[in-house]
This record gives sequence, C-alpha cells and structure tokens, in this order.
Amino acid sequence: MTGLHTIEAMRDAARRRLPRFAFDFVDGGSGAESALARNCAAFEAVRLLPRVLTGAVARDPSLELFGAKYALPFGVAPIGLANLAGSGTDLGLAQAALDAGAPYTLSTAATTSIETIARTAPGAWFQLYVGADHAIVEDLIDRAEAAGFKTLIVTVDVPAPGKRVRDLVNGFSLPLRPTPAMALDLLAHPGWALDLAANGAPRFANLEAYGGKGAGAQSLAKLMAGQSSARLDWALLADIRRRWKGALVVKGVLHPQDAARLAELGADGVVVSNHGGRQLDSAPAPIEALPAVRAAVGPRLPVLLDGGVRRGEDIARAVALGADMVLLGRPFLYAAAARGARRGGGELFAILADELDRAMTQLGASTLAELRQVEVFAPTTFNAAPARPDLRAVESRRTAP
Ligand code: FNR
Repeated sequence: MTGLHTIEAMRDAARRRLPRFAFDFVDGGSGAESALARNCAAFEAVRLLPRVLTGAVARDPSLELFGAKYALPFGVAPIGLANLAGSGTDLGLAQAALDAGAPYTLSTAATTSIETIARTAPGAWFQLYVGADHAIVEDLIDRAEAAGFKTLIVTVDVPAPGKRVRDLVNGFSLPLRPTPAMALDLLAHPGWALDLAANGAPRFANLEAYGGKGAGAQSLAKLMAGQSSARLDWALLADIRRRWKGALVVKGVLHPQDAARLAELGADGVVVSNHGGRQLDSAPAPIEALPAVRAAVGPRLPVLLDGGVRRGEDIARAVALGADMVLLGRPFLYAAAARGARRGGGELFAILADELDRAMTQLGASTLAELRQVEVFAPTTFNAAPARPDLRAVESRRTAP
C-alpha cells in the first residue's frame, strides 16, 4: 500500500482534496467541539491488560448480529450528504463494507437512494430520521422493507440540530450558494470542483420522492431541515416498533436508564453515541458511557458504539468494555475523499482489521468473547451510577477474579 497507514494520514489527504466548507462539514462538531475532542481522547484513557505466553492461536473477530454473520466487528455509520466527499461515496462505501464482510448503514439524509443501495449492497442497514411529516416516516420504513433491508436504526439524538460553528462561519448551506470565499476555495480544489461539475451537486436522494413535482434542491433542503426528531417520544417509537418487522436499533443513547427502557420496549439493540460530537457538546464520550449502558441492559442485548474510534485498538477497547460492534463515521469519509470510496473504504477496513488482529494477539484473545474477558482499566463513572441498582459499573464484574 502506498503511504496511508492511519486515519490521521487519510484525514490530512482529505483536507487537501476537499474545499474548506466540505472538509469542515465532515470534520467539525458542535459548539466548542469539546465532545468531538473527548470522543477520541477518552479511548486513550482505557487500558487493556495483556496476557502473555498464550501461543500462536488463530484469531477470529467474526460475530453474528441481528441475524447476519459479519467477518469484522466494525462497520460504516450513517452519514448524511456523504457524496460531498466525492461522487459515488455512498455506493463505494457500501461496496467496500460488503467486500469486507461488514455492515454499511445508509442514512435517511444520504445522497444515494434506498433502492439503489439495496441493489448494490444487499444486507445494508437503513437509518431513519423521524421527521415532522409522519406520512414520510411511514413511507421510508415501508420503502426500506420493500427494498429488502432487515435492520433499521432509528436516530434519537437530534431533537434539535447541533450548533455547527464551522458551517456557520463558512456560510455552508443547501443548496450551495457560493460566497466569494467559497468560489476561491473551489478554484483551489479543482479535482473536487470538476467532480462536482461532472456529477452534479449531492442531493437528498431518499427525500426527492416527497418534494412534490419539480422539487428543487431548495425545497429538499427545507424538507431535510424538518428531519430532526423533535416530536419523537416513547409512544411514537413504540409505533415504529410495531410497524417495522426486522431488527430495530436505537442510535444516540447515553443514559443507562434509557437503554434499559429501550430493551423493555422491544428494541433489538442500541448504539451508544453522541452523534460524533455534533449534537450536545457537553455529552460524555460514548466509550465513557458504555460500561453503565452494558450493565443496565445485561449481557444479551446487542450494544453498539460509535464516536472517536480511530484505530483497531479502540475497537478492542470498546469490545472489552461491552460493545458488540462499533461504527465509524468521519474516518470513512476521509478515506473516500483521499482514495475514492471503494478503494479508500477497503484500505480503511484492512488497516483497522490488521490493527485489531495485532491487539487481539497481544492480549491473548482469539475471539471477541475472549476479548470481552480482558481486564480493563477505565476511569469512568457517573455520579448517578452507584445509587441505582441498574447502574452497576461493569468494571467490578470485569476485574473480579
Ligand atoms: C453524521 N452522523 C449521522 N448520524 C445519523 O444517524 N444520521 C446521519 O445522517 C448522520 N450524518 C452524519 C454526517 C457526517 C458528516 C458525520 C461526520 C456524522 C453521525 C454518525 O452516524 C456517527 O454517529 C458519528 O460520525 C460517529 O463519530 P465518528 O466516527 O465520526 O467519530
């Protein structure tokens, strides 16, 4: 491979390739970007205690989840407007995930339609935003089912959009209305600009059907602005549970009591996530919140995590603290911008798989089940934790002899 060995290197290459407003849309977070920084930093505080002299056992990081078999315990998080990283990003990443035997999640706000992804990457997951118009929500669910999707991820952490300061400063909005600064930015990034000119500006492909006759980019953008989940509550989620026959996974959970209640409601899994630091800036890092969530739901409910995963050892850390699977958002966009989506996505899967394999070997863990038994030091507690029986810290179980 020629040179890009880390996500940081892919990020640098993406920064060079993309105009500033597009890079900042992908790379940025909300508010002071504290949650964004914390997501990565918190992984470094998690220590795993290796076992030695375990011999040269073969490693198998595969797992079964939501009725499907995956070769790897990580996949692609839902990403709106992904084709800002380059035309064909949704499709290329879906193919890269399929090649790697890993899940790909298509966003409601994707730039490629449910039906197109289903043809190219059967087995992909669909992420639902519960927007203001209920007829659209029901139709999106029905379209996903008709197209053969089996796993629905409902995102619940956008009751109001996060304040993304970089986008405000750059004047980034949809449809793109180039300011003089943006025009200069485009001239400085001719490769990206030519791709846009040849393939058209990214559009909300899943929502075009609802824009009405002759709907332009503007009304679709307005439609998307109404996709935050302000009206979503427990009763509405229960309705969605009744309508969707496949696996229902709820994304954007940090409080253990919410996770426990979701399990009672009939959710098939939760994604511990703060939306990659793009929503509440004072939210804990997902890796900090994970142990209490796992303790609250018990060992059987699938718990996924995303936010701040930047190397294979982070995946090992998340599994050791109770995650079944992790998802990555920005890293796949950096890879797509740097190398083209299918190739870059493939390289990223290979880098992370290799790093995870090295970590498992050094820890003496040959399977994910063994990885879960590794001794973990994680300086994570919430004040509420000891007071409630369902908030037992998972560390006590893990460090017991
Ligand atoms: C996102 N995320 C997101 N989540 C979601 O449920 N629906 C969506 O449409 C989007 N769109 C989106 C766009 C961009 C550019 C980013 C960076 C993120 C959040 C995403 O699924 C995931 O939670 C985070 O990206 C995880 O953090 P990392 O891996 O980026 O650190």
